[in-house]
Amino acid sequence: MVKCIGVLTSGGDAPGMNAAVRAVARTCLNKGIEVYGVKLGYKGLHDGDFIKFDRHSTRNIINIGGTILKSARFPEFKDPEVRKEAIAKMKEVGIEALVVIGGDGSYHGALELTKMGVNCIGIPGTIDNDIPDTDRTIGFDTALNTIVDALDKLRDTSSSHQRCTILEVMGRRCGDLAINAGIADGAEMVITSEIGYDEKKVIEVLKAAKQSDKNHAIVVITEHITDVHELAKKVEAATGFETRANVLGHMQRGGRPSARDRVLASRMGVYAVELLEAGKGGLCVSYVHGEIVGKEITEVLGHKRKTDFSIYEDAIKLR
Ligand code: ADP
Ligand code: F6P
Repeated sequence: MVKCIGVLTSGGDAPGMNAAVRAVARTCLNKGIEVYGVKLGYKGLHDGDFIKFDRHSTRNIINIGGTILKSARFPEFKDPEVRKEAIAKMKEVGIEALVVIGGDGSYHGALELTKMGVNCIGIPGTIDNDIPDTDRTIGFDTALNTIVDALDKLRDTSSSHQRCTILEVMGRRCGDLAINAGIADGAEMVITSEIGYDEKKVIEVLKAAKQSDKNHAIVVITEHITDVHELAKKVEAATGFETRANVLGHMQRGGRPSARDRVLASRMGVYAVELLEAGKGGLCVSYVHGEIVGKEITEVLGHKRKTDFSIYEDAIKLR
């Protein structure tokens, strides 16, 4: 029976991570399991940057964005020797198992540690929604609402000036934020790496929009596809639509977590501790058709997340 658990947040932060930390900490304490917060992700694990949690440690954080544990990217953790040093630090205070809240990179770290004898459970904490085998990741809903809020504001000025507005959003290799925000705000076009980027097609669609009775147009595009400021110039020159580009950036990662993210994070945090209590490791927590379930990290990391394009294809007909 596990007696002491650590919890860390790693990779890009996501609104709702604190609610997950709180759920892990309080579930442990309710079960009589000691619990430590690990600062700065795997870096803090390696450096022994631990805080022993009591009931008060996670007070008033369920509604706060970011992560009270701080997050970091620590590529050194790929080195087995660095992981051995981290395990030695955990042993010094008696941490036997770990809950890792983060994205797919963080899952790799959790899997490697499990292989070295430390049971780890991953919780999907990333705004990108890019983890396979879970319908939602913690932070996605809040980030999506932040983008929709920004698009609503851009729509006002875009409409007033009869302009085309291009908004670049986060999502690295996953277009879920762009697709869902595009649908929610009635965008003229959504461009993601999965949908594909064809500059001629973009110009064609916007030219047609300009020639129709459309007063303005909104394009939502995922980051790392093209330089949106250059694209705006090309669109303006080719279509006659005065065009402005905006990059929303890290604004999408902050803010008060939505109710959905808080609930998801709370449920996942409880379940992660139950898995560790049952002696499980190398698993991650997923949300599938409304249920919280455990999945093998190896399987989850073994395939690409499928984006549901049908929702976009249906919505685009509503333009
Ligand atoms: P995310 O978890 O959001 O995908 P990263 O890809 O930056 O973010 O990964 C977070 C951290 O997980 C990395 O900085 C590193 O410490 C750890 N990590 C990533 N890949 C591995 C790996 N193959 N082995 C061990 N640790 C890893
Ligand atoms: O993975 C979350 C994420 O916000 C991505 O959408 C984005 O590409 C990346 O992190 C940005 O990372 P950083 O904060 O290190 O610039």
